[in-house]
Amino acid sequence: MRKPYFAGNWKMHKTIGEARELAQTLVTELDGNTNKLMIAPPFTALSAVSEVVSGTNIKLGAQNMAPEESGAHTGEISVLMLRDIGVSVVILGHSERRHVYGESDELINRKVKLALEHSLEVILCVGETLEERDAGRVNDVVAGQLKSGLNGVDERHLVSVTIAYEPVWAIGTGRTATPEDADAVQAMIRERMANAYSDSAAEALCIQYGGSVKPENVVGLMERPNIDGALVGGASLMSESFVPIARAGA
Ligand code: PGA
Repeated sequence: MRKPYFAGNWKMHKTIGEARELAQTLVTELDGNTNKLMIAPPFTALSAVSEVVSGTNIKLGAQNMAPEESGAHTGEISVLMLRDIGVSVVILGHSERRHVYGESDELINRKVKLALEHSLEVILCVGETLEERDAGRVNDVVAGQLKSGLNGVDERHLVSVTIAYEPVWAIGTGRTATPEDADAVQAMIRERMANAYSDSAAEALCIQYGGSVKPENVVGLMERPNIDGALVGGASLMSESFVPIARAGA
């Protein structure tokens, strides 16, 4: 039985004070919640939020990471720095990183492997654009991102990997994929993972859906057999919307 996993991606929102306040409210309101929970504040608020969530049932996540451990990489943040600050999960391959900042599958794969080597958990995001969906290429695109993203990743590391299926056209747009559509793609992901690894690894794999998840649609999504949780953007910025999402499926 896969444990429901709800993660909040705060993107480029919240000052340190705002982040601390939201994290504190979530810690209080989600105390005792048995789902897997994670919040990913911006880098500047990681330290403050780390103090608030330390020792609670909420994991601390980062939104990105450099593909190298250290060196002359102006503006980048290393896996060692993330570990140092108490981060245990990193979101990689988010569509905004792929499409706005031009991250390639190869770059994302280097980050995935480095994070796993350093015992960080990874949420690997995959998903098609509207153009790709309209051209009937959903499975090709998603399976391609999955294969490249996990290239060289050993089965023993899969316990630390979550896949987030995020159709690009549903992110921040208010358009959610129907639970049936999302589940169909997520079933395909599970099948590809069974072929690439093993049935047991695929069965144990947590696959989140992401893209305009809200308290009103989370229950319908979670009812589907291959949707094990959600990666939440906009609705994770307020406790009023993230708390009911985080309680779904519990
Ligand atoms: P959204 O973002 O919930 O605001 O659509 C999801 C994401 O980008 O992870």
